[in-house]
Amino acid sequence: MTDQTSPADPFGFLGLTYDDVLLLPGYSDLAPSDIDTTSRLTREISLKIPLLSAAMDTVTESAMAIAMARQGGLGVLHRNLSIEDQAYQVDLVKRTQTGIITNPVTIGPDATLEELDTLAGQFRISGFPVVDADNKLIGMVTNRDLRFTPVAEWATTKVNEVMTPQPLITGPAGISRDDATLLLRKHKLERLPLVDGEGRITGLITVKDFVKSEQFPDSSKDSQGRLMVGAAIGYFGDAWQRATALIDAGVDVLVADTAHGNVRMLIDMVKRLKTDPATRDVQVIGGNVATRQGAQAFVDAGADAVKVGVGPGSICTTRVVTGVGVPQITAVYEASLACKPAGVPVIADGGLKYSGEIGKALVAGADTVMLGSLFAGCEETPGDLVLVNGKQFKTYRGMGSMGAMSSRGKKSYSKDRYFQAEVTSDDKIVPEGIEGQVAYKGPLATVAHQLIGGLHQTMFYTGARTVPELQANGRFVRITSASLKESHPHDVQMTVEAPNYSGS
Ligand code: XMP
Repeated sequence: MTDQTSPADPFGFLGLTYDDVLLLPGYSDLAPSDIDTTSRLTREISLKIPLLSAAMDTVTESAMAIAMARQGGLGVLHRNLSIEDQAYQVDLVKRTQTGIITNPVTIGPDATLEELDTLAGQFRISGFPVVDADNKLIGMVTNRDLRFTPVAEWATTKVNEVMTPQPLITGPAGISRDDATLLLRKHKLERLPLVDGEGRITGLITVKDFVKSEQFPDSSKDSQGRLMVGAAIGYFGDAWQRATALIDAGVDVLVADTAHGNVRMLIDMVKRLKTDPATRDVQVIGGNVATRQGAQAFVDAGADAVKVGVGPGSICTTRVVTGVGVPQITAVYEASLACKPAGVPVIADGGLKYSGEIGKALVAGADTVMLGSLFAGCEETPGDLVLVNGKQFKTYRGMGSMGAMSSRGKKSYSKDRYFQAEVTSDDKIVPEGIEGQVAYKGPLATVAHQLIGGLHQTMFYTGARTVPELQANGRFVRITSASLKESHPHDVQMTVEAPNYSGS
């Protein structure tokens, strides 16, 4: 296959997608515990499970990103919100389940309990080191301390009246994880503030985070033990400010989030991000492309991974509205031809309906997959449950849908994803996506378990112990529409839904 259609045979280039292929079974000598689903997300980051949640406003905000990182994948925060709000979401993730919080939120002794309560709500944290003007630790105050003062007195009571003052048990800056564990256990502490030789606060360790890291051994963590998070950026208008604000907030991966990534402005932005000393250390993913040449442009620009998918998504209408796109298995394969020789990982974005398609994407040339509809029904996604005929649903909409692109009383930040940043009136918008709903599926942990369970089985059937083995040895068989019918349950009326299969 090649993306260079021959002038002599303009229709010779056949595009295939997930339903057009199956993986051939292979000799297997594996125990379930042998199987390792670790895969490369970018040049420098590997994930224990090769799953990303889509940068969509009905899929990934901080709660989903936290849940994804805990499972060993990565959430990519959507960008249909202001720069400040998106950076705040990054901060929320980075403050959760952290080995050592290096920049703990602190409070002054003269702040009121009302201010303390507001701060606790804003950062969703329950305890603060109390510091003087010189940043010296003078006490600790927690939500619990609030309980003993009537709410009516919060506005007039000061933090130093309720805090636990020095002397406190503290640890030295740079304390090891083991020494911190010993101190937390010995003194039955909830929190251990870290101070330098002058008594200035340098960090904070919470026992909750230590327990959580034991509870989620596969979680995706940065070098400081904080959960990893990705965030979407564009290339239009204030995109550079957005990128730098996200970096300042601690984002690990910037993900170019645009329907058509093979555009000069975006390629230039990736180049700039990867060369500017202020930004080049953050991982940058280019996308979306669907051809070898599109992927090559990002490889040449220095991208750390390339995201593939033009129109395969469940909510996408790009292919029917514009007539443009490449069936996803072929698109992933074509992009991998440019990325593999350069050692740049590929992300297969959109179009996955079942767990078996993760393995297909990996064999076609991807290293990870990005999921929208398969995750949209999770408890952790934004939005409330909708009850229809006694069944629970969650809203799921394309970022190019009318709902996401129109202002409807508030600013839309997602229009430039679809080349419509300059469209000022809602009735002039040309949507490339639809709005809908998906069945509620419960916590992400359960959903991810089924998806990764399916991938484990793929690896067992194909005899692959690791993702690189699956990629190297996996082979496809092309199938017909009759075979696809045979693949799904047939000639039986389904009476009970399986957790990993729904007929529609
Ligand atoms: P799935 O199939 O997992 O797809 O639901 C999620 C991916 O679809 C892309 N996306 C869109 N594509 N119009 C499009 O053409 C849209 O409105 C739209 N919204 C999201 C995106 O790449 C996402 O990860």
